[in-house]
Amino acid sequence: MSTIDELRAGTGTLVAGLPMPTFRRIQVEPISGACGCEISGVDLREPLDDATLQEIMKAFEHFLVIVFRDQNLTPEQHKAFSRYFGPITELPQAPTYGEHSDMQEVRREAHEPENVVPSFEHFHTDSPFLERPPLCIVMRALDVPKYGGDTAFSNAYLIYEHLSDGMKELLDGLQVVYSGKDIWSRNEKLPPEKRLRLRESHSFREEELENIHPAVRVHPVTGRKALFATTAYFKRFVGWSEAESRALVNYLQSLAQHLHYHCRVKWKKDTLIVWDNRFLLHRGIHDFKYERRHLIRTTIMGERPLGVKDLPLKNS
Ligand SMILES: [Fe+2]
Repeated sequence: MSTIDELRAGTGTLVAGLPMPTFRRIQVEPISGACGCEISGVDLREPLDDATLQEIMKAFEHFLVIVFRDQNLTPEQHKAFSRYFGPITELPQAPTYGEHSDMQEVRREAHEPENVVPSFEHFHTDSPFLERPPLCIVMRALDVPKYGGDTAFSNAYLIYEHLSDGMKELLDGLQVVYSGKDIWSRNEKLPPEKRLRLRESHSFREEELENIHPAVRVHPVTGRKALFATTAYFKRFVGWSEAESRALVNYLQSLAQHLHYHCRVKWKKDTLIVWDNRFLLHRGIHDFKYERRHLIRTTIMGERPLGVKDLPLKNS
């Protein structure tokens, strides 16, 4: 029996596709049946004791999105908390936050149009073109609209688990070419009012901006499988034509829209969210106008994505 089968064999209320874990050190309130929880009873300005940290990590693994309210952190406190999840990494394309080259910002001024932020108006994972795409994002709100500007999430484990056996078998053997090589040149061709705000310089080499990853991603510890094929930075499936690839990825992208895979979080000033970037999709919702929205974040480096063929063979 695999680790994931053992997890499913537990009894109790199901949430995010698995039995609800128990927590003693923190209060955990699920946001929807699909993913996400709010955690209270923790002050992230202080170093965390081992037992509290273990429970936060358990909540993160289970819910994929963890939300803390009223966390008025300095950038250094933000980075210190982020490092519990892994090493902080830079991104080639996302604008940095002030003098902090290891932090990024998502900023839309009140007078600016929706397209100015590098936040896609569709579900995506961040920077899948890197060899080791981000494990998670740690984001905190400095300034948010009174209403609107939420972030929505879609659980990619559940998307995969609801596919037919035939589609699972097809996708299990597929690989995706992801590329971030041409985002600057494409942006320059757009009229000024339609351009994204991108980072102007970075130290990544050209060949680091394109990689091949499995279409179905496997959790390195539990072996649970999730869809890892979405349209952002997507070039094609390996061995498929562009037209064939586009038809299939558009269908897969449409599945992420189903509400029963989602949760949605309303930001308030000093809300801090950690979300998984491996087994979960996200998107900002720009349903506001004439108000400022300013979020700052760190990005944690993930493992090289594992595919189904990388799983150890059972009974061998
Ligand atoms: Fe994003």
